[in-house]
Amino acid sequence: MAMVEFREVSKRFWKVEALKNVSFTIPEKSVTAFLGPNGAGKTTSMKLIMGFLKPSRGTVLVWGEEPWRSEGIRARIGYLPEKPVYPMDIAVEDFLNHLAKLKKVSRIDVNRVVKLVGLENLVDRKIGTLSRGYIQRVGIAQSLLGDPELLILDEPTANLDPSARREIIELLKILHRELKVSMIISSHIIPELQELANYAVIINSGFVLEYGYLNDLWKKYEIEAVFIVKTMYIDAVAKILIDKPYVHYVKKVSDGLEISIDPEHYKSFENLLIELGDMVKSYIFKTASLGDLYEKVVKSGSKEGV
Ligand SMILES: Nc1ncnc2c1ncn2[C@@H]1O[C@H](COP(=O)(O)OP(=O)(O)OP(=O)(O)O)[C@@H](O)[C@H]1O
Ligand SMILES: [Mg+2]
Repeated sequence: MAMVEFREVSKRFWKVEALKNVSFTIPEKSVTAFLGPNGAGKTTSMKLIMGFLKPSRGTVLVWGEEPWRSEGIRARIGYLPEKPVYPMDIAVEDFLNHLAKLKKVSRIDVNRVVKLVGLENLVDRKIGTLSRGYIQRVGIAQSLLGDPELLILDEPTANLDPSARREIIELLKILHRELKVSMIISSHIIPELQELANYAVIINSGFVLEYGYLNDLWKKYEIEAVFIVKTMYIDAVAKILIDKPYVHYVKKVSDGLEISIDPEHYKSFENLLIELGDMVKSYIFKTASLGDLYEKVVKSGSKEGV
C-alpha cells in the first residue's frame, strides 16, 4: 500500500482550481520532492495530506485513511508550514514545551528534538534573537515532536541565504538517515533537493505532470549522470572507460575526466572505479540533474489535460 495516494483529486477555492483531477502515489520511507513553480498547487497538496483541507472531488488517502476525517492519521504526521509565525519574545524551550503540551507529548521529547536539530545550546534564547536559519530549526524541531512517521516540509529553505539553505538540507539528510522518517519537501528551487530526494512529484498549474522514483525518471527521460574523476593517468583511464557500453562520453577537464553514464549503471561504474585502485585519485558523483528532469517533464507535458 502506498503511504500517500491521491485519487482523481480536485481542490477548488472559490474560482481558482488549485488541483485539477490529480492522481499519484508516494511510497513509504521515501524522500519526496514536490517540484513546481509558484502557484502550482504544492502547498494545497500538502494541506490535503495533513488533513487541513478536504478535497472538492476525489479521495486523498494516507496509510489507507482520509486524513481530514482521521485525527489518528494527522497525529502521525509532522508539518512545517510555508510561512510559520513564531512568538518572537518567547524562549525556544518554552515555545517547544508549550507545543509539546498541546500535542500531548512529554518534555523528554522536547529535549530529544532540540538535540536532533542542533539547538541544545540555544534553548534559553528568545526566538526573535535567532538567525533565520536557526528559527527554521525551531520549525523543524516542532515538526518532529511526537516522533512522526512522515514529515511534510513546505519550502524549508525559503528566505534563507545560501549557507543557511545548505545547512538545512544537510540537517534534513541526517534526520532522514537517523530517524528513517519519510519526508515530503517542496521547493521551487529545483536543484536544491537533488541530493536529498529519491522520489519526485512534479506539479504545474494544478496538474501532476509526472511522479516516481528518480532512478526510474532519469531513465524514462534519458537524463544522464555525470561523474568527475580525478586521475594522473588521464589517457589510460579514459581508454578503459570509453569502452564501456554505459558510458556516453568522456571529456578531459582540468585535472581529470568528466564522464557521463547511463544512470541505471552507476553501481557498475562505481565498482569499476574502485577496481582501478590507485589509478583513480578520487571521484565525485555529480548526479543526474533534477533541473534537467524538471525541464524535460514540463516540455513533454505528458499528463496535462488528461
Ligand atoms: N485559501 C485559498 N483561497 C484562494 N485561493 C487559494 C487558496 N490557497 C491557494 N489558492 C490558490 O491555489 C493555487 C495553488 O496554490 P498553492 O499555494 O497550493 O501553490 P504552491 O505550489 O504552494 O505555490 P508557492 O510556490 O507560491 O508556494 C494558487 O493559484 C493560489 O492562489
Ligand atoms: Mg506553497
